[in-house]
Amino acid sequence: MSTAGKPRVAVTRRIYPSLIEELKSVYALDDNQGDRLLPPEELARRLAAADGALTFATDRIDEAVLAAAAKLKVVANVAVGFNNFDLAACTRHGVLATNTPEVLNESVADHALALLLAAARRLGESERWLRAGHWKRWEFDQFAGADLHGRTLGIIGFGRIGRAIARRAAGFSMRVIYADTARLPADVEAGAQWVGKEELLRQADHVVVMVPYLPSTHHLIGAAELALMKPTAVLVNLARGGVVDDAALVRALRDGRLAAAGLDVFENEPQLNPGFLELENVVMTPHIASSTQATREAMARLAMRNLADALAGRRPPCLLNPDAWDRRRQ
Ligand code: DGY
Repeated sequence: MSTAGKPRVAVTRRIYPSLIEELKSVYALDDNQGDRLLPPEELARRLAAADGALTFATDRIDEAVLAAAAKLKVVANVAVGFNNFDLAACTRHGVLATNTPEVLNESVADHALALLLAAARRLGESERWLRAGHWKRWEFDQFAGADLHGRTLGIIGFGRIGRAIARRAAGFSMRVIYADTARLPADVEAGAQWVGKEELLRQADHVVVMVPYLPSTHHLIGAAELALMKPTAVLVNLARGGVVDDAALVRALRDGRLAAAGLDVFENEPQLNPGFLELENVVMTPHIASSTQATREAMARLAMRNLADALAGRRPPCLLNPDAWDRRRQ
């Protein structure tokens, strides 16, 4: 297939082959379809030759990358989170930056409940014990966990995903309280009660954190916050590593100041704080909250739509830096 005259697009991580074929029919593609994470110099080199790029949460798009990419018009993240972008630098260089909101809300909310249930009902711990051949007889209080029904769930960050989690919690007969930067209109709250973060940590039987990672949310949950929580509580983090202070969480879990945790994201992932691996009361998944076949395809397709619109001179639907529009590269 001739690539003459086609815009050049870099795809930095492996996606479904059918999507690669679709992209190849429209673009001259520079795809990285192995399992290799591009080192920063190689990422910069590939983007330097591209008109557009499909990027992922693992790609740091910063001043150095952008300064070397003179014809790059758009970076379309296949993720709702965009803390891997230096948005101000994208705007300065007239590069449109986009993300993939909405399409992953329900899958991430499902995963929040999966982690909450698994941690509260000690699924990982009891399964490991069973597989190790320790089950010799039934015991009255074996792996007695914590209830969800009738308890209060505190959700920190009541955006689209936080609210999808609240809808599921209602199905478990939980009362929902939330903390966010401001109170939401009553129809959006849908029965959830707005409280301050500290009040939430004191009142909630279980807590889910679902805020974007920003300088202001770095270590939003640290030692002081964990100390406010009930010792019987479960903490779930599916936001971003760095929102929770992992070292403080390890100490709280180890010392019995918190019952359990369910974690999908970690500081310095894929490296884990080794303390987590020594603990039975933590359930961990490798940043897969949105990873269902259908949702990952929907995310990639939305990113492809953002990319296509930007390269065709149309305003992409999920533009993160509207200030870049007037200075976009033609
Ligand atoms: C997101 O969409 O931000 C997920 O964390 C995947 O990177």
